[in-house]
Amino acid sequence: MSITAPEPKANMGQPIPRYDAAAKVTGKAQYAADVPLVNPAYACLVTSSIAKGRIDGFDMTAAKQVRGVIDIVTHENAEQLKEAKLFSNGGYAGTTIQPLKSADVAHTGQIVAVVVAETFEAAQQAAYAMKVNYTAAMPSATFDSAGTTSAPAKGQLAQFKEDPKVGDFAKAFNDAEIKVSAAYETPPQHHNPMELFATSCVWLGDSLTIYEPSQYVYGLKNGVAEQLGIDADKVRVINAYVGGAFGSKGSMTPRTAIIASIARRLGRPVKLVATRAQGFTIATFRAETRHEIQIGARRDGHLTALRHESWEVSSRPDPYAVGGTKTTTRLYACPNIESRVSIVRADRNTPGFMRSPPEVPYMFALESAMDELAVALNMDPVELRRVNDTAKEPISGKPYTSRSLMACYDQGARAFEWEKRSPQPKSMTEGDWLIGYGCATSCYPTQMAPAAARVRLQRDGRVRVEIAGQEIGNGAYTVIGQAAAEKLGVPVEKVSVFIGDSDLPPAPVAGGSNSTASTCSTVIKVCEQVRQKLFEALTSNESLTNEAKGTVGMGQTPSTPSASNDRPLDLERAFDALGVSVVEEYGEWKPEGAPMDSFQAMYKGQVRMVGGSEMKDKIAYAFGAEFVEVRVNKWTHEIRVPRLVGAFAAGHIMNPRTARSQLMGGLIWGMSSALHEATELDERYARYVNDNLADYLVPVNADVSDVDVILVAEQDDHINPAGVKGIGELGNVGTNAAVCNAIFHATGQRLRKLPVRLEKLEI
Ligand code: MOS
Repeated sequence: MSITAPEPKANMGQPIPRYDAAAKVTGKAQYAADVPLVNPAYACLVTSSIAKGRIDGFDMTAAKQVRGVIDIVTHENAEQLKEAKLFSNGGYAGTTIQPLKSADVAHTGQIVAVVVAETFEAAQQAAYAMKVNYTAAMPSATFDSAGTTSAPAKGQLAQFKEDPKVGDFAKAFNDAEIKVSAAYETPPQHHNPMELFATSCVWLGDSLTIYEPSQYVYGLKNGVAEQLGIDADKVRVINAYVGGAFGSKGSMTPRTAIIASIARRLGRPVKLVATRAQGFTIATFRAETRHEIQIGARRDGHLTALRHESWEVSSRPDPYAVGGTKTTTRLYACPNIESRVSIVRADRNTPGFMRSPPEVPYMFALESAMDELAVALNMDPVELRRVNDTAKEPISGKPYTSRSLMACYDQGARAFEWEKRSPQPKSMTEGDWLIGYGCATSCYPTQMAPAAARVRLQRDGRVRVEIAGQEIGNGAYTVIGQAAAEKLGVPVEKVSVFIGDSDLPPAPVAGGSNSTASTCSTVIKVCEQVRQKLFEALTSNESLTNEAKGTVGMGQTPSTPSASNDRPLDLERAFDALGVSVVEEYGEWKPEGAPMDSFQAMYKGQVRMVGGSEMKDKIAYAFGAEFVEVRVNKWTHEIRVPRLVGAFAAGHIMNPRTARSQLMGGLIWGMSSALHEATELDERYARYVNDNLADYLVPVNADVSDVDVILVAEQDDHINPAGVKGIGELGNVGTNAAVCNAIFHATGQRLRKLPVRLEKLEI
């Protein structure tokens, strides 16, 4: 594995180091809980030990005796906050389960009390000393538990509009020459970002400042204001850095308004850092899923019929589903397709987004089934993808804006030396080790949302960019700085980037892999406004030719590249002509197809995301091909992964160095998801058992050997001004299936339930 930054290929930016690299490695980067507060009180949560039932009362005697305890807040004395609506229902919240509202308990680990004390230690000690008396009822934990209900997602989830369908699946499957039918299952998983769920709330008069790691400062600001019943302009959310999120910090959790309300009541700042274990239940998670796939094909490999039915677990009150059939039904050419997604309600906390929410479980099912079909056809799995590659999605025939899937397969296969694979399962061995090669497709929708930015250019060439994006480890500072530097023709060292503050112009949630596309497209547009201003000053003051004037005229829409935009600016002359020393522009950008209310919604913290399969006359996805070598020990069944190779095409790559890291992290996470990760559930109590980083398995360095990321050059002029498709959630999509396909090739055993651990192997 090479550790040097990759050389940029066509349509790739410079592999500069991260803007925030030095701050992060030297500990200077300030995360929410690092912000010093004046005379703070410390909060500690008490969470429910039952999953269903009610609180009969509290015994606080011991807790109140702890020196330094200031207040204990329960449903009996808490301020009654306004209802938090689900984000998918026009609100901001990831759950409608509102703690401290009544004696009812909806899931294990629900907040039932908040202890506030002079020190963190006192708060913690008192929280442990709290006794809560419950009347517990029998909870329904998961699939097949008594008392769960199941209903189609369509009709109960506004975002899930349809179960994609085309042609006549039943007839085509019945007539198919080759058939595959199989069921797959994925477990619950938790994001476990390194940075815990922290919240500090500081009131100054009637203005509230919140320091909290959030993927969406505008969403949090508006959501908390709504719950507190105050004007959103009175709320400011600040987070210069977010220490990982992966979806868990995308929507508002109940803790923020609760802490804000306590701080208001006490008249002093309150700081909360929830524990690792509490993070499993006070925020969201990736719910368990089940899938049934049926594929019919001709002997030459062409798909003739495809059906994907799935079930996902959600909480009692909230209909959450990731609904990945919108992707799996559109990936390969096939004339007859049917699908259905159902939501199963259990007594659990409401699930939510987790890195590549729909694609990870749904593509595991489809790409495993495709491998099963390749085996049934006695066909190379790469060739099966080639036979079914398509320039148009099969549901409504919309063309892909660009699709480099087979280029990814070809470049990935070459690097992996796929041709050395002998097709028969169990045919490759080395000593006690069975060797398997597997592959699978990765894909992720290209998504974009409206944003606004302010750009200031000084006479000395220094630039300040302001946009309320979020640095969640995605390299937002770096790529936003690069976008401005490239557009204004200044060295990137001269650009200062300000993000992570809801007082800046709004940007969307850093989720759905839309950040780079949305923020860079917006910054490019505003930089064009700055250039326009300077060129106008030059052209009115100096005698440029008419031809040159034409290229900078007002008739140009700023987002259209023009000759003037590529010409170097003579700043001295332009600023002389303008007669000032600073040019500052504010601008807004919205993607094609975004609704009329986009900009108002953006200020209200509501994202109008467009892209993927939901565009009017086209469909946009990034693609990848992943190759995995596994070695399975004949005697111990130990599974090792010596090689992971991923080749990815995602339009313009802003920075090959950060892109490679992002995709490498995705591949490693994907392997982790296949072999390690699962939140274990005690079904008797609907309780997570391994709610800590010792028992929740993630790979360590020794589990990861060679990881090779290939950036495949691709240009797409039909998506957004930045030409960016987004890569944050691309790398970890195909890996689950690729690992299981490799295990099948090594052992002859097909594993359809994740994660695969050595006790599951029967060889
Ligand atoms: Mo990502 S799960 O869209 O934060």
